[in-house]
Amino acid sequence: MKVLVATDKPFAPVAVKGIQQVIEAAGFELALLEKYTEKSQLLDAVKDADAIIIRSDNIDKEVLDAAKQLKIVVRAGAGYDNVDLESATAHGVCVMNTPGQNSNAVAELVFGMLVYGVRNLFNGTSGTELKDKKLGILAYGNVGRNVARIAKGFGMEVYAYDAYCPAALIESDGVKSVGSTEELFKTCEIISLHIPATEETKKSINYSLISSMPKGAIIVNTARKEVIDEDGLVKALEERPDFKYLSDIKPAIDTELAEKYPTRYFATPKKMGAQTAEANINAGIAAAEQIVDFIKNGNEKFRVNK
Ligand code: 3PG
Repeated sequence: MKVLVATDKPFAPVAVKGIQQVIEAAGFELALLEKYTEKSQLLDAVKDADAIIIRSDNIDKEVLDAAKQLKIVVRAGAGYDNVDLESATAHGVCVMNTPGQNSNAVAELVFGMLVYGVRNLFNGTSGTELKDKKLGILAYGNVGRNVARIAKGFGMEVYAYDAYCPAALIESDGVKSVGSTEELFKTCEIISLHIPATEETKKSINYSLISSMPKGAIIVNTARKEVIDEDGLVKALEERPDFKYLSDIKPAIDTELAEKYPTRYFATPKKMGAQTAEANINAGIAAAEQIVDFIKNGNEKFRVNK
């Protein structure tokens, strides 16, 4: 049984070691494809793989066609928009994620970015504080919950909206639940995005939402670049000298925004939310264990395709 770890953005070496231990203890073999630059390298590596562990790596129909022995793909992380689920199902391949395993890492980065943002990207000028500011968390999943926990330590007033999470659950964490995305944006000067990229959410963070935010508006995006309507973002940055956009995922117009708005726009060089040893260990080992449990016992608990 061959398990391929295919990561364009590699895990920390300590996590790879942990994955290897789990795979080898099960009597399986580990293959490693890291920092690959061409799709052909991935197509070649998947040929004899029975299982694949990935991060944001794209698993499309072409990859699935090439992976003749493939039984399972585990996305070591939360979002699985990089996997063609329909095609995986058609190929008889099970797809899983590892929910919650990297969420603290992402939540901590939100605050790293927020402090950087409110302190004017450390440009030497006087900034503002997070204490007593209203923080709106859009989507109250594993990351959103961790963001709420940390925000309270900063003394922020925390609000959340999640179409799929009961208001009572949000309120039980001491977070104020609001009735819609629109209400969240109208209420909070700081918004942290945690929605997945789906047909429903793509380009949903638009000009009308951004322009409805109170003075001193900041959006921090550690979710997906696809959820932002880039035209609306540009218009809002142009019109509102008080608005800042901080992103862990570079939009297509990164260079233009960085040049035009050097004190109000910031993007990390590479998606960094889950780039900690702890998150890599948690997500990587969970992925390896899920593969072993699936192959040996047929456990499909974290399956995300039909
Ligand atoms: C996730 O969906 O788990 C995060 O976006 C992390 O993605 P990454 O593994 O590519 O860093």
